[in-house]
Amino acid sequence: MNLQVEMWKRAAAEEAARLVRDKMVVGLGSGTTVAEVIRAIAKLRPQATFVPSSSATQRLASDLGLKLSSLNIHHKLDLMLDGADEVDPNFDMIKGRGGAHTREKIVAGAAKRVVIIIDRSKLVQKLGERSPVPVEVLAFAHEYTMRKLAELGGESRLRMAASGAPFVTDDGNYIVDTTFRSILKPAELEQKINRVPGVVENGIFVGVADEVFVGYEGGCVRLKSKRDFLKFTHGKV
Ligand code: 5RP
Repeated sequence: MNLQVEMWKRAAAEEAARLVRDKMVVGLGSGTTVAEVIRAIAKLRPQATFVPSSSATQRLASDLGLKLSSLNIHHKLDLMLDGADEVDPNFDMIKGRGGAHTREKIVAGAAKRVVIIIDRSKLVQKLGERSPVPVEVLAFAHEYTMRKLAELGGESRLRMAASGAPFVTDDGNYIVDTTFRSILKPAELEQKINRVPGVVENGIFVGVADEVFVGYEGGCVRLKSKRDFLKFTHGKV
């Protein structure tokens, strides 16, 4: 594990944890960055309620004593805190390396404000530069679905777990990591992938993030606009 990246991630996570106020209902994404956020929140002990988006997040938050709820009880959230695998200048994202993007998209859709927490290595000029698009698919016809994704120009690989068996999501589905040579129109591709029979949801998130907290060598910078993004990536912060 890259220690420097871990430090950047923690700096951004600690800053994001301070957004949580008493009485808020807060959605929590998944992944190692969100785990840092949860640890930082637990230290601050706010009287807030949390809606986890995966069983791993639920376990950690519950172990650390956070009060949990679900979207079936709280339909509107004040805030969503989540990580990402890639963020572009429009704040469009690729998510789902943890395989929880379907639930994350649902939870984010219920939140008034979505704050994404990343380290600077995840900022990209174009989506797909460093990550495939994770696509959650029904196990039932996953090979057929992979062929259909190939017709869209995507090269899919079935994600495997450490055990050697296919990785299975919290909802019992498979993930196919699909590489597209270039993603010029993320919104269009997001819709096209979701129209393929057998696809549950894909990891392209368009127009979801309101703000991006980026951990870097100087601590944490909060990006609120494309202008902030470009200033930061051109070394002007
Ligand atoms: C899980 C996600 C994660 O937020 C994303 O993969 C980033 O994970 P990490 O913080 O471990 O780098 O989308 O579905």
